[in-house]
Formats: sequence, C-alpha cells, structure tokens
Amino acid sequence: MRIDILTIFPRMFEAVLNESILKRAQKKGLLKIYVHNIRDYSLDKHKKIDDRPFGGGPGMVMRTEPIFRAIEQIKSKLSAKGGFAHGGKTKKPKIILLSPQGEGLNQTLAKKLSKNKHLILLCGHYEGIDERVKKRLVDSEISIGDYVLTGGELPAMVLIDAVARLIPGVLGRKESLTDETFQDNLLEYPQYTRPAIFKGMKVPTVLLSGNHKKIKEWRRQQAIRLTKQRRPELLEE
Ligand SMILES: C[S@@+](CC[C@H](N)C(=O)[O-])C[C@H]1O[C@@H](n2cnc3c(N)ncnc32)[C@H](O)[C@@H]1O
Repeated sequence: MRIDILTIFPRMFEAVLNESILKRAQKKGLLKIYVHNIRDYSLDKHKKIDDRPFGGGPGMVMRTEPIFRAIEQIKSKLSAKGGFAHGGKTKKPKIILLSPQGEGLNQTLAKKLSKNKHLILLCGHYEGIDERVKKRLVDSEISIGDYVLTGGELPAMVLIDAVARLIPGVLGRKESLTDETFQDNLLEYPQYTRPAIFKGMKVPTVLLSGNHKKIKEWRRQQAIRLTKQRRPELLEE
C-alpha cells in the first residue's frame, strides 16, 4: 500500500513512522509512506497556506490552492509512472480528510481501508480546510472520535497504524490478528504470562492445564463476559 500524507507539520510523523511495526512494514516494502509539506506547494511568496474566513469569525482556514496543487502533483507523478495496477486496471487513490465531522474510524472501516492500494491523507489545522477542497477532491472524511484535536496529524497516524497492521504480512510472529478485540464483535479475553504467581496473584488454573479445548472455552466465556460488562452494544450487533 502507498500512503501520501499532506500536512503542514511533517516532522510530527518522523518518530511514529520510523519505529516498530510501521518501520518494519516499510522496510519489507509492504508500505510506502510519503510525507508532503503543504507549504511547499503554495505559490504565495511567503508560502502562506491559510487565510481569514469569508463572512468573518475567529481563526484561520486552510487555503484551496496549495492542497489542490499537492494532490494534482502526486497524481500526475503517479500516472507518469503508470499508476498502481490493480486487477489489470489503474486504481485511483482514495483521498481522505481527517475531520471531527467524518465517519467514525473503527475496526470494520480499518479493514475496508486496508484493501486499498493507495491512500492520500489530508491533515487539517486551525478552523479546518476550505469547503471546496472537500467538494472537489475528498472521497471521505474520517474522525477518530467525538472530540476536537488541534490538527489532523495525530488522527492520520492513528489511521495509518490501525490500517497498516491489517495488511497481509505486516504483523510478524510476535504479533497476531487472531482472537483480538472486535473480532466477532467481542473484546479479547484476559492475557497472562510468566510468572504463574506474582505478589500472591495466581494465573487462572485452566491456562496452566495444557487442555486446549478447555482453554479455548474459558477464553470464549471470558471474552463474552467482558463484552457484556463493558460493550454490550457489540453483542447486540
Ligand atoms: C481544530 S480542528 C477543526 C475543527 C473544526 N473547526 C470544527 O469545528 O469541526 C483542526 C483539524 O484537526 C483535525 N481533527 C480534529 N479533531 C479530529 C478528529 N476527532 N478526528 C479527525 N481529525 C480531527 C481535522 O483535520 C481538522 O481540520
């Protein structure tokens, strides 16, 4: 998968993209991430990327021109290279605006996004971006929760992390997608590791029994118990 990120704070991504599983996925060639500074695409002599809102009011709005130029350039560079082939056809990138007004990100949406060959993530700031960018360029708006953050960079990182680990081959032997929270609409069962007794607290005996059938049953019961207790609406779904 290729991901292009459009941001006015490219340095925010350095640590997150260059550690752990995301770093390894890029090394393995399963993920290609390009971070673009929107300012570099501004034709303004001061590289201005925002302006006051029409109609007045507080704050600043991100301007259309640098964002349109950035996306046009990414697309034209890509089509010069032949684009991404997908089932014999060239696939258009999916352009996502991170926005508190968007569709909520959840595991189902992350799975859907992980099937894309190319995502372009647009990070807003200040009061957000000019509505015409949304109308003409953006395919979908995604929110990471019902709260307002200062910018779209943290949401973009959250989305990348949630999506990248679902790309086949990204997770290694030490990580696993099986039995995890939200699979089958259940929360994951409690996990334990060595030592078997710590400060008087014992690991449930069944987990030490070696009886795989019993362990499986116990884990399923625990997953249902936890889900009923904490997220009953998942069971209803
Ligand atoms: C301060 S917010 C703008 C909020 C906007 N004025 C509003 O009331 O809807 C600046 C930027 O942060 C990002 N952002 C803030 N909260 C977010 C959330 N919960 N999910 C995704 N992006 C978010 C968006 O890119 C947004 O354009």
